[in-house]
Order: sequence, then C-alpha cells, then structure tokens
Amino acid sequence: MEIKRVTEAEIIQEAMIWGDSLTQEAQNQLISNLQKAISEQGIPGAIEFCNVNALPILTELGKVYSVQLKRASNRARNSADLPTDEERPILEAYEYNAENGIKSDPNIQKFENGEVLLYTKPITIPSGMCLNCHGEPEKEISKETLVKLDQLYPSDRARGHKVGDLRGMWSVRIPKKEVVKRL
Ligand code: HEC
Repeated sequence: MEIKRVTEAEIIQEAMIWGDSLTQEAQNQLISNLQKAISEQGIPGAIEFCNVNALPILTELGKVYSVQLKRASNRARNSADLPTDEERPILEAYEYNAENGIKSDPNIQKFENGEVLLYTKPITIPSGMCLNCHGEPEKEISKETLVKLDQLYPSDRARGHKVGDLRGMWSVRIPKKEVVKRL
C-alpha cells in the first residue's frame, strides 16, 4: 500500500472545503423540508415539523459522512442547540463581530490533539421568511404560531430577530482521518 504524505495545511484546507459543502447540503435539506411543511401545513404546523425533524435530519446527514453536524446558538429555541464548551468561544467571536459590524468567515479549530477538526460558519437571517417564526411576537409571528411555540418551547430564546441578525452557527465536528481519506 502506498503511503501518502499530506501536510497539515492541506488537511485544514480540505476540511474547510468539505465543511462548506456539508453545511450547504444540510441547509438545502432543511430549507426544502421547511418549505414543503409550510405549503402543506402552514406556519404553525411547520413548527411541529421542525420540532420533530430538524435535529434528526442533521444527525442522519452527519452519519452518512462520519461527522457530527449541528447548529449552535446562544439564543436557542431548542436547548439541544446551546453551544458546547468547544463551540462557545467561537460563537462568542461571531457575536462580537456581528455587534461590531465585522464580517465573520468560516473557521477551523483543532481539538483532541488535532485528531478532531471543528468547522464552524455563522448563520444569519437571510430573509423575512424566517421572521414568521423568529421575528417579533404578534407582529411577525402570528398568535396561532405563538401558541405552538409556547407549547413546544417554553424557554424559547429565538424570537425578536431582524433580517441580517446572527442567528447562530453551523458546527461540524470532523475526525481528521475522514479528511485525510479525501486527499
Ligand atoms: C415554521 C417556523 C420556522 C421558520 C419559518 C424558520 N424556523 Fe428556524 N427554527 C424553528 C424551530 C421550531 C426550531 C427548533 C428546531 C428543533 O427543535 O430542533 C428552529 C431552529 C432554528 C435554528 C437552530 C438554533 C435554535 O434556535 O434551536 C436556526 C439556526 C434557525 N432555526 C434558523 C432559521 C433561519 C435562518 C430561518 C429562515 C431561513 C428559519 N430558521 C426559519 C422554526 C422555524
């Protein structure tokens, strides 16, 4: 078997490319499922859809590629999306940048002696569509939708957003060996 030598720089570069495409794929899956749920069940019904399916969709996609794929937010709706100790400082840096009008780029950090690469990318609110469920209560979020949100997420923090706000970040925990396989 031929032994291939790869540099650390090549590994980081590949993890960046892969993280970008994985999070793009994940976002496409979430958006297309969300749009389908809204057209079939309306906004309040789509809340239930997200409640049941958002996390499993991401977990499943992660399994396909042997990575852990999730979203993290300090203003989480689902408390499972609160940041881990690894994610918190990166998310705080994105928050600092957002508050100070500085653009944030995707980032790679090493953990577990460099055996794990954590890819992150900020998630901002791209359009008014999101405000149906993340905007101002009773103005952008309808009463009917609020009832559902209160039922399913009693400690919801993901309201009161505006277009352009930082909503959270993508987080992909990638084993280095999975990146090396791709080189
Ligand atoms: C139909 C209502 C609805 C719409 C529209 C919607 N979301 Fe959400 N969003 C939710 C629900 C419900 C959750 C919690 C999902 C769960 O329990 O895993 C959520 C969770 C999230 C999370 C994960 C962090 C957290 O707070 O738990 C992000 C990030 C997010 N939404 C961003 C967006 C963006 C960006 C848009 C617009 C493209 C959007 N959402 C549109 C209902 C919605």
